Amino acid sequence: MGICWTCFSSSSSSSSSPHNPTSATTTTTTGALSAGQILPTDTLRIFTFVELKAATRNFRPDTVLGEGGFGKVYKGWLDEKANSKNGTIIAVKKLNSESVQGIEEWQSEVTFLGRLSHPNLVKLLGYCLEETELLLVYEFMQKGSLENHLFGRGSSVQPLLWDIRLKIAIGAARGLAFLHTSEKVIYRDFKASNILLDGSYNAKISDFGLAKLGPSASQSHVTTRVMGTYGYAAPEYVATGHLYVKSDVYGFGVVLVEMLTAQRALDPTRPSAQLNLTDWVKPYLHDRRKLKSIMDSRLEGKYPSKAAFRIAQLALKCLAPEHKQRPSMNEVLESLERIEAANKDPKLQSNRTVATRHVHHRSPLHPNQEGR
Ligand SMILES: Nc1ncnc2c1ncn2[C@@H]1O[C@H](COP(=O)(O)OP(=O)(O)O)[C@@H](O)[C@H]1O
Ligand SMILES: [Mg+2]
Repeated sequence: MGICWTCFSSSSSSSSSPHNPTSATTTTTTGALSAGQILPTDTLRIFTFVELKAATRNFRPDTVLGEGGFGKVYKGWLDEKANSKNGTIIAVKKLNSESVQGIEEWQSEVTFLGRLSHPNLVKLLGYCLEETELLLVYEFMQKGSLENHLFGRGSSVQPLLWDIRLKIAIGAARGLAFLHTSEKVIYRDFKASNILLDGSYNAKISDFGLAKLGPSASQSHVTTRVMGTYGYAAPEYVATGHLYVKSDVYGFGVVLVEMLTAQRALDPTRPSAQLNLTDWVKPYLHDRRKLKSIMDSRLEGKYPSKAAFRIAQLALKCLAPEHKQRPSMNEVLESLERIEAANKDPKLQSNRTVATRHVHHRSPLHPNQEGR
């Protein structure tokens, strides 16, 4: 859940509804991306409200998995009796009647997520639309959101190991690259709470409420009212409402920094100079020694410092103030894959060994977090 805002500056000058797909599969070339598909629109199941009420035990508070700007998300059991271990587990997102979001965001999820299929996009199983009730039904993602793993507290939240962080970054990059190359979809709300993890920590992008069809070939951007989440949104978008495909790349850079530091993109509980994560830590990302001082203390120094530095460099590129200076998501994905490959090469493991000697390294940026 982030702090979402709406600024009714200028309204959209381009169509917000996606064009009809002309082919059944995408034309992307790399193996990772061709795993995606554009589905016919009739694959979604229509649920009744009564069915979803039963599946979630009348939306019982103890089935709540999370909450965002649209509403609460509940865990549910389909078909079989509630409590049965054999039932299909689902996640049901229900519009909160007090939310500023509504039919537009619901429609966007159905239109985009209902038609795009990729291993790194969460699967939308169906929906319910009855009078004022708007609900969406997704596959259940066992390990919840990346946000919860990075910032959650309590004994059930285990810190993510370095290799898992890299795997998550690669999965999320694949999902975003697929969106950008399949139908030029701009996701618009890339953040840790919208990256979900399955039982094996495969990352899947969810929450397509703000997704938008990208510009036509003759245009560089779409103009839209500014919506998104403070701390993640690209500066050109916040300033002008001009949304570029590379506005998403900026958000990806913010998440990379969150994964390195386990600090939130925006945190009002930090001193004011540190309120915005990227403004605060940018100078640290340029320097390998300085970087060490802002790394997540819960990694306990168990990460290859060379790889961490390369990720920091990549994050800086994604965070370039000028959208044109940012890499494409395909380029980001390639860089991450190269970093992972080097990580797996035993000849390049020496850095990691050195890093593990610094167990209990205490970062000056986590002054009160010993024993976290
Ligand atoms: N399919 C799912 N499986 C498990 N948890 C989910 C699922 N979908 C959402 N959640 C949880 O609910 C939170 C809010 O979901 P999200 O779709 O982002 O809602 P919103 O559109 O209101 O922002 C997520 O951050 C996550 O913790
Ligand atoms: Mg969300």
